[in-house]
Amino acid sequence: MGNYAGTDRERDIASVIHPQTNLLNHLKDGPSIITHGEGVYVFDEEGNRFLDSGAALWCASLGFKNERVAKVAYQAMQQLPYFQIFRGYSHGPAIDLSERLLQIAPVPMSKVLLQCSGSEANDSAVKLAWYYWNGLGKPKKRKIISRLGSYHGSTCVAISMTGNAAYHKSFGLPFEGFLHTEGLNYYRDARPGETEEAFSKRLADSLEALILKEGPETIAAFFADPVQGNAGALPPPAGYFEKVQAILKKYDILFVVDEVICGFGRTCSMWGSQTYDLEPDLITCAKGLSAAMLPISALLINERVFKVMAEESDRIGVFVHGFTYAGHPVASAVALEVLNIYREIDIAARVKSLEAPFLAMLKSLTDHPLVGDASGVGLLGGIEIVADKETRRSFDPRFKINALIDKHAQKNGIILRTTPAYRIAYSPPLIISEDEIEEMGRLTRKTLDGALNEHRKA
Ligand SMILES: Cc1ncc(COP(=O)(O)O)c(C=O)c1O
Repeated sequence: MGNYAGTDRERDIASVIHPQTNLLNHLKDGPSIITHGEGVYVFDEEGNRFLDSGAALWCASLGFKNERVAKVAYQAMQQLPYFQIFRGYSHGPAIDLSERLLQIAPVPMSKVLLQCSGSEANDSAVKLAWYYWNGLGKPKKRKIISRLGSYHGSTCVAISMTGNAAYHKSFGLPFEGFLHTEGLNYYRDARPGETEEAFSKRLADSLEALILKEGPETIAAFFADPVQGNAGALPPPAGYFEKVQAILKKYDILFVVDEVICGFGRTCSMWGSQTYDLEPDLITCAKGLSAAMLPISALLINERVFKVMAEESDRIGVFVHGFTYAGHPVASAVALEVLNIYREIDIAARVKSLEAPFLAMLKSLTDHPLVGDASGVGLLGGIEIVADKETRRSFDPRFKINALIDKHAQKNGIILRTTPAYRIAYSPPLIISEDEIEEMGRLTRKTLDGALNEHRKA
């Protein structure tokens, strides 16, 4: 392609920065170059096929090829390749998409703020929480609480909410006022004999203690993803959200639900909020919104918050917030078509029908010496990688077990998402078939066998 000097590998090494990659190692290892996809598979430049168990970054819900959406993108670009929605301008695609999102929202929502990424949506949600409390004359209500183990994005604010110290190191983050309460891995962190309900109560008590220590009058909002993606697609323990929501209500703290992974069918309902009976004030979503075919995200805002926003914007003059590509007409048209497809194939029901074989596949892996436990919901779940099943001990990082698993996965034609929490996370495209789920299990087992053998020899 083109008149370029050098192989694609050489040109990549010479020019591209890769997120979440060891930049020094990359200079010698180079990239894996993906050329195209079909269904749940992607292909590299040598023609090797990989089953992507993570739908790329939890997002390619309709898989890696879709003619129908491609045609809509082409038509939308011909109609109006771009116009802003600043200063009261609008266009059909932004209106249609916003209206549809309000129609399908899990709880009554009033307005939609369109953005380009999950990080931007979460960043904006923090700003809106601040704007809201300022509007109500409570400027001290500024602190944000999120949970250890959750990932909320890479902008300075979204990463400040992210509960993982490795993401903050050397950036001088998190910002002051971003607090983290406990994560929720029952398998790893429960005390001997503690029930799931008792574990949830302990987490909720700990959240309440944090709020009281900081002063409820200083806490603006609590952020949570219904299933914790970055912790390895970890569902909440029984009773967790019920207890947490009661505390948020008690102290008048806004509840922001990050549906960036869970939205659009992934957990057997259209929203994770429906699966876990959540009543958010604000919802952020992205990824599955367009099945990742174009970058777009949305922030859904309830009437309570919108009313104050509207008054505050009037007091100031305008609502001083926005991104150039917000509500991009082509991305909005694509997202709307993706939502049409979800409706036609009843995506939530489809996921529900695949949940049992998916969870059975994960459970079947627990007889492997490396796998301590498995859990999930819908088409989102994970297996716990342990060095010792008895004690549930993780591998010493110097063994680099995740890198070994990645290497064998690649050899076996499967892309697996290993996580720093030593839990392999699964979030396949929602169009996956039962046979492909079975293949995912088979290739995972082969990969774990290979990694274990190599580890034992080392
Ligand atoms: C739960 C969650 N929130 C937010 C984000 C950030 O989204 P983006 O990468 O589109 O900024 C991610 C990304 O993986 C995510 O998993």
